[in-house]
Amino acid sequence: MELSDYDKSCWEQLEKASRDPEAPFRYLTVCSVDQNLQPQARTMVLRAVTVRSRELEFHTDIRSPKWEEFQKNKRATVLGYCPNTRLQLRLQGTITLHAPGTLQAQSAWSKLSHWTKQTYAGGPPGDELAFEPAPVTATSPESTDSSRGEVYFGALIFHATSLDRFQLQRQNNQRILFEYDSSGSLVSGNWVNP
Ligand SMILES: Cc1cc2nc3c(=O)[nH]c(=O)nc-3n(C[C@H](O)[C@H](O)[C@H](O)COP(=O)(O)O)c2cc1C
Repeated sequence: MELSDYDKSCWEQLEKASRDPEAPFRYLTVCSVDQNLQPQARTMVLRAVTVRSRELEFHTDIRSPKWEEFQKNKRATVLGYCPNTRLQLRLQGTITLHAPGTLQAQSAWSKLSHWTKQTYAGGPPGDELAFEPAPVTATSPESTDSSRGEVYFGALIFHATSLDRFQLQRQNNQRILFEYDSSGSLVSGNWVNP
């Protein structure tokens, strides 16, 4: 298998995960750096992948701290691990923000389910609650109005500049570093010591 085939396989798995809620790479750890230079990590749903340009799409509430963190520092690391195949993907790159009202945000919003839209209609993420939240039921009043969340809905596009592929294998761990140019073309791939 050629090095480029390993790269192709990684991106195929990411692309597949963006369409499959059960895929391990569907939930990725997205890392930013905050104003105190403290690394921040959180799980995010991989919403879409554009393999040609090496881009991953994520959605978030623009009132969450990560939005401002990426506004101030666009550098990001994205980490995924598949326990079935013991494959780790560590991608580095930059984030572009698509705020509410932009074509990208409007287009992504229009494709969301009613239930997902609702998650943007509550209070600001991270704000303290006075009470333990009540269990959600089909008849909860919030379930009726999802449209008001659109003003808080933003899309984050991660553009990968490198991919570190680590395959854990008994006695034969394998690691390859891939680099991409700004258009997303593969410019180098190297086996490295795991
Ligand atoms: C399985 C899972 C999926 C999540 N998906 C998202 C997501 O797609 N977008 C998002 O903004 N937060 C998502 N979250 C919540 C984040 O991990 C995080 O707690 C929240 O966004 C606040 O992050 P921040 O304070 O770093 O901005 C998810 C959490 C879990 C457990």
